[in-house]
Amino acid sequence: MRKRAHINTMGCQMNVQDSGRMRDLLASMGYEPEENPHKADLVLVNTCMIREKAEEKAFSFLGRMAKIKRRRPHLLVCVAGCVSQAHGKAILKRAPYVDVVLGTGAVTRLPKLVEQRIATGLPALDTEMDQPGFGPLPGPRTGPTAFVTIMTGCDNFCSYCVVPHVRGREKSRPPDDVLAEVRVLAAQGVSEVTLLGQNVNSYGKKEGLCTFPELLEKVHAVDGIRRIRFVTSHPKDLSPELINAFSGLDKLCGHIHLPIQSGSDRILAAMNRKYTADAYMDKLSALRAARAGMAVTTDFIVGFPGETERDFEKTMDLVCSARFDGLFAFKYSDRPHAPASRLDDKVPEKEKARRLAAILDAANAIIQEKNQALAGSVLTVLVEGASKQAGNQATGRTSGNRVVNFEVPKGMENQLKAGAYVDVAIEKGHAHSLWGRVLPSGGGKKPWEMCHAA
Ligand code: SAH
Ligand code: SF4
Ligand code: F3S
Repeated sequence: MRKRAHINTMGCQMNVQDSGRMRDLLASMGYEPEENPHKADLVLVNTCMIREKAEEKAFSFLGRMAKIKRRRPHLLVCVAGCVSQAHGKAILKRAPYVDVVLGTGAVTRLPKLVEQRIATGLPALDTEMDQPGFGPLPGPRTGPTAFVTIMTGCDNFCSYCVVPHVRGREKSRPPDDVLAEVRVLAAQGVSEVTLLGQNVNSYGKKEGLCTFPELLEKVHAVDGIRRIRFVTSHPKDLSPELINAFSGLDKLCGHIHLPIQSGSDRILAAMNRKYTADAYMDKLSALRAARAGMAVTTDFIVGFPGETERDFEKTMDLVCSARFDGLFAFKYSDRPHAPASRLDDKVPEKEKARRLAAILDAANAIIQEKNQALAGSVLTVLVEGASKQAGNQATGRTSGNRVVNFEVPKGMENQLKAGAYVDVAIEKGHAHSLWGRVLPSGGGKKPWEMCHAA
């Protein structure tokens, strides 16, 4: 009988990357991937604790695993990720049926911990933060897009945030290792890479490696790569050189996610963000001047302790003047270790909900208007696969990271596959996507080209 492992990944791309490594490690121990936790011999949940809700989701999943384990006592339940790093042993107290607890620095030690659990019959725990490097090169990919980790951890200590406490200090990966991974991905047919870190703008600074814009140039030179993206950028470290890269590097996509968090300088200072709303707006203008059609998306937190109605008005004014192309907004949530959790003057839940709804209403109206204004233009789309809506539709993304859905023309079903780049005439703009029609390109060329042939 083959052994099967079910992996449930919660949280951000850091966890997605770690889960990929753990999937490969479990495969080397003979575990096949299993979609259904009821059929698994090992369940691994990779947890997030950015907000309280995320943490609750992890424990509610564990509660479901407890029920399955009653019927399948041999089931091994493993908990990885940020909740493990923060709570360690306390997880075993709260969920005594858990077999392995491993923190964010212990990813590569998963096999050893599982073996230890089996050999001793006792729960295994490892929350040491000594991740040895960035792990092996990635296994085979099937899709046209991939994430590449260029740094881990965070040194910024925003006062609300748990990440520096559960991911450790910032550490950059040597450029040659990044390039080696990008080349392997390109050879596998990946044409779009997203470089990943909590604050990519400070890449290489501590270690004296190359700068982030220099790294972008190196990735730009890799054959087969047609699109480059990155997340996430801290506004305080967004340099003129990086802004220039949007003019000079044509493979760099015309999109940046630049979280602002608040429009009030008082709150930004209390958040320890180290920039003002005006400084942010100046950088926003420079980005839009550097690249025509530049898409800028952001994050906001509403209801930070002490946020008054006046502070919130400043945020709303900024939402209206900045005219973001996409936006995430979150209700402030107290987090263990984060200094803001010790501040008085908490904003009531109901008020946070009102502010959240107000921000989303205002922002979505602007986003929809901007999307509608794209009707009539032709945008190049990297096809990612079948659309969720209907069988004869496909979906992809523009350089500005907008989702485009379109009908697959009759007779082209086999050619219009994930990885193809197509020109799409945009017909309609919605709040979260665009709708369009595939254009046959001129000059006797095929209407699309496969990414790795181009
Ligand atoms: N490193 C990234 C952010 C990672 S967390 C950056 O600095 O941009 C993603 C988003 O979650 C943050 O931008 C912030 O808006 C939100 N967030 C983080 N901690 C939070 C908290 N305690 N409560 C509510 N939202 C939070
Ligand atoms: Fe958290 Fe701030 Fe670091 Fe982002 S930059 S991960 S918000 S501490
Ligand atoms: Fe969540 Fe940890 Fe990422 S807290 S957002 S999974 S770094």
